[in-house]
Amino acid sequence: MEKKNLDWSNLTFSYVKTDKRFVANYTNGAWDEGKLVDDDMIVMSEDAGVLQYAQTVFEGLKAYETKDGRIVTFRPDLNADRLHDSAVRLEIPPISKELFLKSVRQTVAGNAAWVPPYGTGATLYLRPYIFGINPVIGVKPADDYQYRIFATPVGPYFKGGAKPIVVKVSDFDRAAPHGTGNIKAGLNYAMSLHAIVTAHKEGFSENIYLDPATRTKIEETGGANIIFTDGKGKLVVPKSNSILPSITRRSLVYVAEHYCGMTIEEREVTLAEVMGGEFTECGLCGTAAVISPIGKINDHGREFAFASGMTDMGPVMTKLRETLTGIQMGTVEAPEGWIVEIDV
Ligand code: PLP
Ligand code: COI
Repeated sequence: MEKKNLDWSNLTFSYVKTDKRFVANYTNGAWDEGKLVDDDMIVMSEDAGVLQYAQTVFEGLKAYETKDGRIVTFRPDLNADRLHDSAVRLEIPPISKELFLKSVRQTVAGNAAWVPPYGTGATLYLRPYIFGINPVIGVKPADDYQYRIFATPVGPYFKGGAKPIVVKVSDFDRAAPHGTGNIKAGLNYAMSLHAIVTAHKEGFSENIYLDPATRTKIEETGGANIIFTDGKGKLVVPKSNSILPSITRRSLVYVAEHYCGMTIEEREVTLAEVMGGEFTECGLCGTAAVISPIGKINDHGREFAFASGMTDMGPVMTKLRETLTGIQMGTVEAPEGWIVEIDV
């Protein structure tokens, strides 16, 4: 199959319209079986539930071309589970795992020419989402919903690829205690927009959000979980009920333990211990971010520089990143069930 003629190695993380998208509709209390369509436009009521009360949840996953030319996805069953949990929290009727996995297969196969070639550093990003589509004026859930998934070829999430970035400790909270921080809802990202624009204006790449109750513990950034290492074989992962259960982070915990021989600590991590030099390296992890190294954290003018520096990713994050991407691209043997091949 002939690939599209794109400058694959220089793609950024932005939207490119591809050929096919998958659409399913929920009406009269049931999801239909859905199908691939060409039309990227959506026509809906001016009073659609998603437009009035932000009733929408989403996912993000990627398709990869492996070294031997297969097209694969990474742990899509976990995206199906998380989309289910997000939907339930926002009173959206969840779609079945079968429908989710079918939609992933069909969307990737229908856009196979858009899957970036192995070795270019680019991947095909998939964005599944569900939203309330019928008119809603009192504050209540919609009756009708649409599920869609589109694909777009992407490069690195942060400019400069895997170069260390500088982040700030945000003055805003991302999630309330007992709120929606642990699900993937559009509303969590709407509230982060002012914070990220502010951070960018100040010269920072991202925001670190603290725990909303005490503002002393590290939670995550706007679009990724955070991981730390002490440089002595330990991976430390912040634990909190209000961070998104990142599939990348959960996979890295396994990879660190079983492939890299590290010990894992999942626990509360205070800003004070990070700024006090407890860790040698820090990374942002997520589907979009993969692992992006943090070089410096700025807390209201007080700066902490990780020992790994601002030039390159440190050795531990490099090893974790290479192992994870090796599993995703078929050069490192994957744990059972992690890689789902797409028939094209
Ligand atoms: N945290 C937030 C707020 C995110 O938006 C994402 C992206 O999906 C992640 C973490 C990483 O999650 P995952 O590894 O499942 O992509
Ligand atoms: C992802 O990593 O898939 C996300 O949804 C993060 C987003 C900020 C692009």
